[in-house]
Amino acid sequence: HEEFTKVKNIATIELGRYEIETWYFSPFPPEYNDCLRLYFCEFCLNFMKRKEQLQRHMKKCDLKHPPGDEIYRSGTLSMFEVDGKKNKVYGQNLCYLAKLFLDHKTLYYDVDLFLFYILCECDDRGCHMVGYFSKEKHSEESYNLACILTLPPYQRKGYGKFLIAFWIVILGRYDVACSYELSKKESKVGTPERPLSDLGLLSYRGYWTRVLLDILKRHKGNISIKELSDMTAIKAEDILTTLQTLELIQYRKGQHVICADPKVLDRHLKAAGRGGLEVDVSKLIWTPYK
Ligand code: COA
Ligand code: NA
Repeated sequence: HEEFTKVKNIATIELGRYEIETWYFSPFPPEYNDCLRLYFCEFCLNFMKRKEQLQRHMKKCDLKHPPGDEIYRSGTLSMFEVDGKKNKVYGQNLCYLAKLFLDHKTLYYDVDLFLFYILCECDDRGCHMVGYFSKEKHSEESYNLACILTLPPYQRKGYGKFLIAFWIVILGRYDVACSYELSKKESKVGTPERPLSDLGLLSYRGYWTRVLLDILKRHKGNISIKELSDMTAIKAEDILTTLQTLELIQYRKGQHVICADPKVLDRHLKAAGRGGLEVDVSKLIWTPYK
């Protein structure tokens, strides 16, 4: 059978004002096999072999932001929702680009089935992509986050946490984003698609840890993992492993019990670090695709 090591082909890309070193192999079409560097249009994400081609393209390309609907704007941050079916080429270009920074993801050629949420920093030159996540349009009661990426020049600024929090909003869980009031009627929960990269695991764990510690700290009396899941839209398994990592779970009489000593919670909260950028749900300007 045909198993071969995929050697990183493209070493650097130019995107907007950044030159970015790539991390992993990405299966660009064969005509790009002979180049080490690719030039991307930062708006439509078309890619080219030569700088002059990009310069010519930029004179013609009239996009100044991702295609699709702007569904959120707060200060200089905007989020665009792109339907892969309506913007097939953009979706494919984005997948090629993202794969350069994702190790064990398979590429989705069937971009029709996905929505892409593109986070941008905006200025007078346009809306510049900093990262994105994708999600399948239709999945069962649990909603997968298929892919999440912050482009390297923008990493470690809190955008990853923002994207994860925004995805919870997209699940339709405005109540979760606004407050952690217990709402029994909702049962939608989300979970990231496996396997997780090391950085992905760190980011999700960080987000889950903050949210869960925050609730446990304010909550009086007993609370179950199921209740936490209903309140946060985080899948029960993810809650259990997060709390186990924090050593807040004991196993008594065949049951997992949360042991939330206030001193221990405070210590963990301190260690959990910065909260990151908040999603301001009052700045949503579009009802997300359902
Ligand atoms: N080293 C150590 N910890 C890191 C890290 C790094 N290089 N990058 C992120 N983290 C951890 C930190 O705990 C960080 O919180 P802190 O900065 O408050 O300490 C937390 O993750 C989230 O950081 P944040 O700035 O919100 O995330 P980000 O914008 O850097 O994006 C990813 C995080 C995972 C989206 C980004 O690293 C990425 O795109 N990686 C490549 C693609 C990928 O692996 N996606 C996940 C697939 S499962
Ligand atoms: Na991954």
